[in-house]
Amino acid sequence: MTDWTLCIDFGTAYSKAAAAPADAWSRFEPSMVRPLMLSGHHHHGNPFLLDSAVFVDEGRVLFGRAAIARADALGDKKRMALKSFKTLLSVSDLDRALNTNAPLSIDPHRIFQMRDLIVLYLAFLLEAVEQACAADTLVAGATRMSRRYAAPAWRSGDSAGMHQVIVQLFGEAEAFRALVGKKLMSPDGLPLSTISSALPKALANARAMDIGLIFEATAAAAYTSVGLEDAGSHLIVVDMGAGTTDIAALARVGARTIELPEARVTMKQAGDFIDRIIANLVIENASWARSKDDQSELWNVLMRQMRDIKESVFADGRATLRHRGKNITLSMRDIERDADFKAFYKNLSEAFAHGLMVVRGDAVLRGQTEVQAIAVGGGAAAPFIQGLLKKKTTRATPRVVARPATPDWAHAREFQGNLAPVFPQLAISIGGALAPDDMLAARGGVSPVAAVRTDIEAAPD
Ligand SMILES: Nc1ncnc2c1ncn2[C@@H]1O[C@H](COP(=O)(O)OP(=O)(O)OP(=O)(O)O)[C@@H](O)[C@H]1O
Ligand SMILES: [Mg+2]
Repeated sequence: MTDWTLCIDFGTAYSKAAAAPADAWSRFEPSMVRPLMLSGHHHHGNPFLLDSAVFVDEGRVLFGRAAIARADALGDKKRMALKSFKTLLSVSDLDRALNTNAPLSIDPHRIFQMRDLIVLYLAFLLEAVEQACAADTLVAGATRMSRRYAAPAWRSGDSAGMHQVIVQLFGEAEAFRALVGKKLMSPDGLPLSTISSALPKALANARAMDIGLIFEATAAAAYTSVGLEDAGSHLIVVDMGAGTTDIAALARVGARTIELPEARVTMKQAGDFIDRIIANLVIENASWARSKDDQSELWNVLMRQMRDIKESVFADGRATLRHRGKNITLSMRDIERDADFKAFYKNLSEAFAHGLMVVRGDAVLRGQTEVQAIAVGGGAAAPFIQGLLKKKTTRATPRVVARPATPDWAHAREFQGNLAPVFPQLAISIGGALAPDDMLAARGGVSPVAAVRTDIEAAPD
């Protein structure tokens, strides 16, 4: 019997997943860590990242990269792909938010509530996970699998209540997936007629999914701690994704890793927010784009290339792109001068200083002399994040040591160079798969893999 653990990281911009043998925490072996190729069916983009997007078309619904491509191809200002819908899970009245009708720009047919679209996306994600597991030579041999998902630990929100809602949404998604199976992965999407007949059946029969919850920061700490002889006793983590920037501090007490909840901050400004600042700055400076149409065209062009623009700005301090025969340049200094960015940076540095104070205080209490600092998520390389990690502290001890976002084992030959470039984004799912049960915020059970697979294959195609 081979027991594996799977962790799904449903992200604002990209979903990720990884699997590891159930005993990986105590017997760590890099080649057994399996980040899953959720977009392995696609020929463009990184195979480990699945775009979190849904597009409701004329007679069908498209998912992931196909959804984004279709929305771009239509170029219709009134029609949009649904993206960043994970942020909905942070609202205080979650049930009400889920039961709201999708806006007209997202669903021109007026048939879907936000809940339906999230269930459909999660079904697509579960099917992508299933196919990626089956395609992985090692994971395919698993006979039993325990599952977790990673979520931010909302300070004001009711995380336990949110967990109940999410396991129900996953359960509905699984029931829907059992009815439609592989069709979810079709590049042409799923016909509305299939959805309207299968979704009500799935919703009526769904049971909550047996899936555990790990807080994102805890998962980040798990990956940082595993397999390192010099793993520290105290750790501060900054995770800048697309929707949120999370700060958390952790302490190792004996064999356990505990979170120091007073240090935790979740900010609703992250990659998406930086994207808007950049796009607005460029448009303001583009004197030749004064009409509404020119500006919205430029906005779309920028948004399509935004990841690459940020990568250059973060790494080289500037980015240049060509549009309509004109060169557009943008520098990190321009961003740093922006009023919204300044306000965000002020909050971020205060939150980091506060977290650091909490974690250093705990280190002192436990007689420790070092705190490690690490950034994960797509924004890990941002100079303003790296600057925080390396900032001098007024008191010399406990000293703060910045760790690289990508550990040495991510360069192992086994991964053929594909893992290291996206490692900061995959850190949560990898850590979540490695973490022992006692690091979970809520536990899930272990299910036999064969039974799940037989169900799916018996379903009508
Ligand atoms: N090399 C890079 N340089 C700069 N930004 C990047 C890079 N790679 C990804 N990003 C940005 O990181 C963000 C996505 O990161 P990540 O996958 O960690 O987010 P997420 O998990 O989807 O979001 P969240 O955790 O907030 O739900 C996007 O804003 C993307 O543009
Ligand atoms: Mg994330």
